[in-house]
Amino acid sequence: MALLKSNKRTTITGKSLNNKVVNTINIKPKNTKKIINRYHFLIKCRAYIFELLKISLGQTDDEMEINLFVQEFLKKKLKNSSNNKIDFENELLQLKRGHKTNDKSREQELLLLLKFITTEIVDNGGLQRYQQASIMGQQSDRGGDSSKKLMEWILELSDAGKEIKEMVTLEIGSLRVDNVLSKNKYKKFIKSIERIDLNSNHPDINKQDFLLREQPKDASEQFGLISCSLVVNFVPDEYKRGEMLRRLKQFCLPDGLVFLVLPLSCVENSRFMTSEILVNKIMHQGLNFKLLKEHKSNKIVYYLFQNIPSTRVNESYLKKNFDCRKHIDEDSKRKHGKNNFSISF
Ligand SMILES: C[S@@+](CC[C@H](N)C(=O)[O-])C[C@H]1O[C@@H](n2cnc3c(N)ncnc32)[C@H](O)[C@@H]1O
Repeated sequence: MALLKSNKRTTITGKSLNNKVVNTINIKPKNTKKIINRYHFLIKCRAYIFELLKISLGQTDDEMEINLFVQEFLKKKLKNSSNNKIDFENELLQLKRGHKTNDKSREQELLLLLKFITTEIVDNGGLQRYQQASIMGQQSDRGGDSSKKLMEWILELSDAGKEIKEMVTLEIGSLRVDNVLSKNKYKKFIKSIERIDLNSNHPDINKQDFLLREQPKDASEQFGLISCSLVVNFVPDEYKRGEMLRRLKQFCLPDGLVFLVLPLSCVENSRFMTSEILVNKIMHQGLNFKLLKEHKSNKIVYYLFQNIPSTRVNESYLKKNFDCRKHIDEDSKRKHGKNNFSISF
């Protein structure tokens, strides 16, 4: 492993690499995407390091718990925290590119990398900046608040004569309580909204991992509308992504609606996923949802599905066809410039 000393004093987002807490309020709009990408990059590298160090965190995706665990772990395992020989940015890039060797001699370097990541995410305010940038992203980048599209569709369906009752609503991955979903003019469609997120930034957003939410016992714990916007792509593990979609089915009332939003690249530029596979195979044949609406913008794809009543998850179909990235031809796997977004069951 090449160990070169870096002269960089800032990360690519321009953030200082010393231990100062970063002010999370003043983020220039042009920087939001960089910050979001940086955060995704760091948590992906951290997941690789966990893999190499054979660290299992059980089921938690909670950033606070993960970081507390890492800090304790580093206290026990890191022998010498002197890091003056490591070019951290370069090492992280190597990890991301799949240069993932591990032997005993490398363990301490991996621990130093882990420390570097945790310092940026926790001490230097990386998580707060990420959340702030995501909120700003909702406002401007990516066409703004995605629930605008959802409510536009609900209105369209209603105008076209579809009966839309007042829906008990669940918003997964909620960043703000004043999005279009909560506007007064839509009150006739939205009976109530429960908002959840792994990292709540508002008292009305419950801090909860949807993947760990207790299964609904009956219809009173299911929802007429579930919004899952830009969340599935956030889940780092392909099987957990599958579990998230399975749960959309379990938590949705018969005839209920699911609003699913993904970055367009997940279905247009992946070696393993296309819109056809997601909509017709996974959501329709596997989970028995019917597609009502679809829209692709430059960067985002929006879907509105309806839960077909009296149907269940077709587990055998999903496991047979969507286990471990089997679901696309070999040729496509070799294509360069593609990403590895996939969903497995
Ligand atoms: C990119 S943001 C998207 C926010 C917003 N829904 C939007 O469309 O802009 C993804 C959010 O999903 C949350 N999230 C990811 N996995 C989750 C899970 N398992 N349960 C609840 N929230 C989750 C993250 O904490 C993050 O705030």
